[in-house]
Amino acid sequence: MKYMFQMVMDCGHGLEKEINKRWRTQKPIDIKEIGALFTTNVIGSCAFGLECNCFENPNNEFRVHTRKFFDGSIARALRIAVTLGFPSICRKLGVIFFPKETTKFYMDVIKNIIDYRESHDVKRNDFVQLLLNIKNGPSADGNSFTFNEIAAQAFVFFLAGFETSSSTMTFAFYEMAKHQDVQDKVREEIRRVVAKYDGKITYNGIMEMTYMGQVFDEALRKYPILATLERIVTKDYKLPDEDLVIKKGTKVLISLQGLQHDPEYFPDPEKFDPDRFSPENKDKIHSCVYMPFGEGPRICIGMRFGVMQAKIGMAIMLKDFRYLLHPESRNMKLFSKSPLLAPVGQVLLHMERVE
Ligand code: HEM
Repeated sequence: MKYMFQMVMDCGHGLEKEINKRWRTQKPIDIKEIGALFTTNVIGSCAFGLECNCFENPNNEFRVHTRKFFDGSIARALRIAVTLGFPSICRKLGVIFFPKETTKFYMDVIKNIIDYRESHDVKRNDFVQLLLNIKNGPSADGNSFTFNEIAAQAFVFFLAGFETSSSTMTFAFYEMAKHQDVQDKVREEIRRVVAKYDGKITYNGIMEMTYMGQVFDEALRKYPILATLERIVTKDYKLPDEDLVIKKGTKVLISLQGLQHDPEYFPDPEKFDPDRFSPENKDKIHSCVYMPFGEGPRICIGMRFGVMQAKIGMAIMLKDFRYLLHPESRNMKLFSKSPLLAPVGQVLLHMERVE
């Protein structure tokens, strides 16, 4: 994490330059787009060793393809529902989850990276290198990866890594723009910690920003990015106090949206209240009612990285600026058809410099 921190911070300098530029124009910013450009740069750099340069060129191919994947159209929603619901039939019929041109783009990018690294004997401390190490040496179970498996892993990592963190940033900023007292408290914390580390945002400093962590946790409580978890039952299970047995092999959907908005566990659930996650209160929350990163052996593999990149983005953006809701964005609506929880349209914020 410490090694990755520096790479994320390098992308953070681009973010800092960009928000200063936007502030000078005096136009509102779309936090959803700024967050996505930042996290696309981060994941491109940390996972693949690529400079995506999204701020300089917001319509570069990386961003164009990720936008396509998360477009939320009815056709896309249908395709997702059908491929997730009936995978083996879809495989036979050739119905695919991702748009063809998107798959081709990523496969080509990854093939080029692998070819280059292998022919020039280049090694880098990133995700692609980890996959290459597995490809070139037998893994614990004696198997290694094929090119397609590497490409698929890298592709999933890219998609899982950028939109989740940028959406969490969007929801946190939306709520902080609505609750200026919360925003001021986060900014005070950032400034105090940054001053302690000679005016720099450091790894230890980010870890010490505990109130910002509470805001982040509460944003993910109110807006679980993946609204449902999926599991397959491995043995017959009788529900306690119910006359119902869930049979082995049944696919179960666990609604995070339902659990995290249940007043039994989170009183007044529509209220944005970071104090639910204060050091005194946090331990009282049952781990299986708050699971924005999942739970068990399949828990999100990028959890710590996702938290780190979103917190760095938030610290950079909040340190010197205040954000206020633009009248058009006062009532954010959520996409019901997207595979991930996401706001409909732009989330516009006004910026003010804070001395
Ligand atoms: C705020 C940010 C993030 C949120 C809210 C989030 C949420 C989740 C959730 C709910 C799951 C399903 C876990 C389960 O079924 O128990 C998941 C899986 C996954 N996430 Fe994340 N994630 C985030 C960031 C990231 C990042 C940054 C990466 C990669 C760099 C990543 C990579 C993955 C992968 C590869 C899986 C599949 C793991 C498996 O099936 O074993 N995620 N994530």
